[in-house]
Formats: sequence, structure tokens, C-alpha cells
Amino acid sequence: MKKIEIDTPSAESLIVCGDGAFEKYIPELCTGLTFTVTDSNVYKLYRGIFDGVFSSCGQVYVIPAGERSKNYSVLLGILKAMLAAGLKRNSTVFAVGGGVVGDIAGLAASLYMRGVDLVQVPTTLLSQVDSSVGGKTAIDLNGVKNIVGTFYQPGNVVVDPLFLKTLPAREVRCGLGEIIKYGALGKDIYVKLIENKNNLKSPSFLRDITYDCIAFKADVVRRDEREGGLRKILNLGHTTGHAFELFYKRKSHGEFVLIGMYYELYIAVKCGICAPEYAKSLIELIKKVITVPAYGDVREACRMAMYDKKNVRPREVSLVVPSSPGKPQELRLSAERYAELVQSCSDELKKEGA
Ligand code: GLY
Repeated sequence: MKKIEIDTPSAESLIVCGDGAFEKYIPELCTGLTFTVTDSNVYKLYRGIFDGVFSSCGQVYVIPAGERSKNYSVLLGILKAMLAAGLKRNSTVFAVGGGVVGDIAGLAASLYMRGVDLVQVPTTLLSQVDSSVGGKTAIDLNGVKNIVGTFYQPGNVVVDPLFLKTLPAREVRCGLGEIIKYGALGKDIYVKLIENKNNLKSPSFLRDITYDCIAFKADVVRRDEREGGLRKILNLGHTTGHAFELFYKRKSHGEFVLIGMYYELYIAVKCGICAPEYAKSLIELIKKVITVPAYGDVREACRMAMYDKKNVRPREVSLVVPSSPGKPQELRLSAERYAELVQSCSDELKKEGA
């Protein structure tokens, strides 16, 4: 079992990671009155766990599976149920599920009585390597992703690969989106990905790389919890990924992160920031996981990038792009230039028959 501690100005988080982490740690964290949030998919798959472990120390609250649940009325439903269950300041909220459950249950935990203890139990690859760690909580508003939220560190994160056994192929792809993102940020992760490029989906590789990604993120969060600067790097690929996700929908977050990274690598090369050979090696990884689509006229989709939280000036889009292994950098482009480059990437993809 591996352990990682994150000590930030606001709190301390302990992340335990490994086979059997759930069985070993959850019972000892279930003290006092608890409130467990999960979604309909996870509940169906792991009903035995909920009935056996979580129901015995509190209420289990099931929200509909999917990004659409990240809204104000679902949040309000959770908060009302917490109140009705008689949750106190010393109670604990468990978020058992993927990114949506972690984000909304985390937000509810941060708001109820100005904050009660939170334990994240991520059940998808994406939430294990990324969203359960670092204390970002959120809901979407008016179609804008994660626009209402808090920074609220979970006291504990319990990462057990047990849950990956039931994960659909699409969810593995989504997790790999974030994992390749870490590869574009950290040199050691990049080297591991390249060495295992024909083996990316094997359970033992995923287990190993999950720990590396969490350790990388923990180090970033420790140094910049509130995204004053450094933490922005964790948004590599996300400017275009989020813009496409908002506009084109249909695919899921991790898939759009992969697509966003591809488009942003193209931009980084065109702007002379990223060496073509390095970009090519990352593109090869992306293409092992997803077919990157061409789009028609991308102007409307690019307008969605104006909502990106990294932006500082009006009519300017901020991206984090890879430059060389282990060296990401921020690139700011005028909205027009950004749209022009995205269009040109899409046109080239079309020519290649995407
Ligand atoms: N997923 C990006 C972050 O946690 O900062």
C-alpha cells in the first residue's frame, strides 16, 4: 500500500493507494454519523458494499449518473438530505464514484455547516488519477463547466484498483486522457508512457502509473493549492477540451481532454513552442487511445474557450502547452488567432481523412 500526504495551508490530506485499500481503510474511517453520495451506476455495481459498509453508519444518497447531475438542484437535494439525516459538524461525507460524484459531494461537504469531513473514494480511472485529489469541488452553471465551486481538501482519499475491474473501455480511455496529460507535464511519466506505449491499457501498467500521476499532482497542489500559478499546468489540453466539450457534447470529459491535447499540440508546434518530434511522440500516444476528429467551422466552439478560468484578459485565450519533456508553458493567444489555429488543425485532420 502506498501513501501520499498533501499538506496545504488549508488542510492535510492522506491518500492511500493500492489493492485492498478500500477494505483496509474504509471501515476505520466510518466512525460517527456518515453520509455517502454515489451515483446510480456505481450503486448498481457495488450495492453489496453500500449495504454492508456505508448503510450501517449512515445514509447512502444516490444521484443519477452523468455530468448532467452536476447542477444546483442535485446539490440542493444532497444538502437537504444531509440536514434531514441530522449530520453534525463531526460527521463525515463519503464521495464514492467518479468525477461528478466527487465534485458535487465535495462541494456539499464544503458548504454544509461551513465544512464537514470529506473522504473521496474514486471509482473511475479518471477520478483516481485526477479529480479526487487536490480539493477542487464544483457544479456547472448555464452550461459552463465547474464555474461554481470551492477548494476543499478531502481528509482522506482511498484509491483502490478494485473498482477498475468493472470499468467500461470508454472510461479507461477517459482516464488515459488525464494520464497522457501527466505525461506531457512530467518527464518520468512521459518516459514510462513511451516505454509502455503498446501496453497502455494493461491493469498492472495502469496501477503503477496511477500512483505516479497522483504523486505528481500532490506535489503541484502542495505548492499551489489555489491555482495562483503553477497548478494551472494541470489544465494542459483542457482549454480546447472544455470548449469542445461545451459545444459538441456527446463525448465525455476525458475523451475531450485527449482531443484538446491534440489540437493544442498542433498549436504549440505552429507557434514554435514545441519541437515537432516531441509533439509527434505525444500525438502517437493520443492516437493509441482515440481517433481525433475534424470539425467543420470551429468558430462557435472556440468562443467557448472565452469561459476558461485561466484567461486573464478579454478577447485572449490562455492555454498550457508542452514545450519539451517535463516543461509545460503557458501560451496566450488572441481569440482570433486561437480560432484560426484550431480551424487549421481541424482542416488538416480533414485532409488526412478524419
Ligand atoms: N484537474 C485539475 C486540477 O485539479 O487542478
